Amino acid sequence: MGVEESLEQATSDASLRHALEVSNKIEQKIAEDPSEFRVLTGDRPTGNLHLGHYFGSLRNRVTLQRRGVETWLVIADFQVITDRDGTGPLTERVHSLATDYLAVGLDPEKSVIFTHSAIPALNELMLPFLSVVTDSELYRNPTVKAEHEATGGRPMSGLLLTYPVHQAADILFCKANLVPVGKDQLPHLEQARVIADRFEARYGHPAGTDEPVFPRPQALLSGGASILGLDGQKMSKSRGNTIELKMTADETAKRLKKAVTDSERHITYDPENRPEVSNLVLMTAFALDRDPVELAEEIGDGGSGTLKKMATEALNEMLAPIRARRAELEADPGYIEGIIKRGNEIANERANETLREVRAAMNMNY
Ligand code: TRP
Repeated sequence: MGVEESLEQATSDASLRHALEVSNKIEQKIAEDPSEFRVLTGDRPTGNLHLGHYFGSLRNRVTLQRRGVETWLVIADFQVITDRDGTGPLTERVHSLATDYLAVGLDPEKSVIFTHSAIPALNELMLPFLSVVTDSELYRNPTVKAEHEATGGRPMSGLLLTYPVHQAADILFCKANLVPVGKDQLPHLEQARVIADRFEARYGHPAGTDEPVFPRPQALLSGGASILGLDGQKMSKSRGNTIELKMTADETAKRLKKAVTDSERHITYDPENRPEVSNLVLMTAFALDRDPVELAEEIGDGGSGTLKKMATEALNEMLAPIRARRAELEADPGYIEGIIKRGNEIANERANETLREVRAAMNMNY
């Protein structure tokens, strides 16, 4: 298979199966020796984190960190402007995102939390990286296509078209070899591998070494089913169907009270035919660490009233310590600012070091 087709292949069933197999093997390796791995992951600071993020990725990041894997977290502020006109209240959002990271249990002593815009050498990697990708590869990326379609006729910005390359710089500047992702991010990871390979093929190694500058990063598929919004659509702030981590217990109860269910009284777990009810069952099951099918059977004729009551209790109980920690952190904004500042210092050192190797490989030694 040519590298060009491999981007499209990344979302096909066969390659999804392959990605799952690779992920399972990585899980075993982590159990044997977590120090072999460096994780890079992150989020766009576009709004508050919600349960979709929590069940889809945050929980998994905390687990990986507790298992002993080094964790780098990019607050992707330059990615905010891929598909919108302004940056919005960016400073607050960046602080809020870092606060959420610590509130859910990511350990600031074991993580590097940094922002794109403060790391010039990371951004400079875009130039050599753009030189090894083709425009047709960029236009073919299915996730970029979908994201562009979701903007409703807005012209595609050059930054949206090339953000997978920027994301490769996020991953490769710190030489991360593991990226925990949902399947929509698989094409981006494939692009990052292609960039690492082609960089080596074209520019070689820094003089005096036979080590490639960049590792080939692997995806770790997060496995868990994704959560829908409370109306059965994709969970997203703009639809008002989320439960944000920072909401109060009362706000959570109100949102859940209004959650869409269906006309059948008996509760079952049947995501295909009863997406809304099953989604409530699943969130509750995740929060209680239980099996959704058993939980649905137990509720049975209790109907959606009982289901919503259980969901509210379980989610509020799970979120209570996260919210308490959040309130503590919010009381001391200087602390979060310090965490980001220190993260940016560490990331800058690493990025400068990597850029020196890149220049050495490219004979740019002046
Ligand atoms: N695009 C990711 C998201 O929207 C955030 C992100 C930025 C990221 N850079 C990354 C994820 C690098 C993984 C690796 O969620």
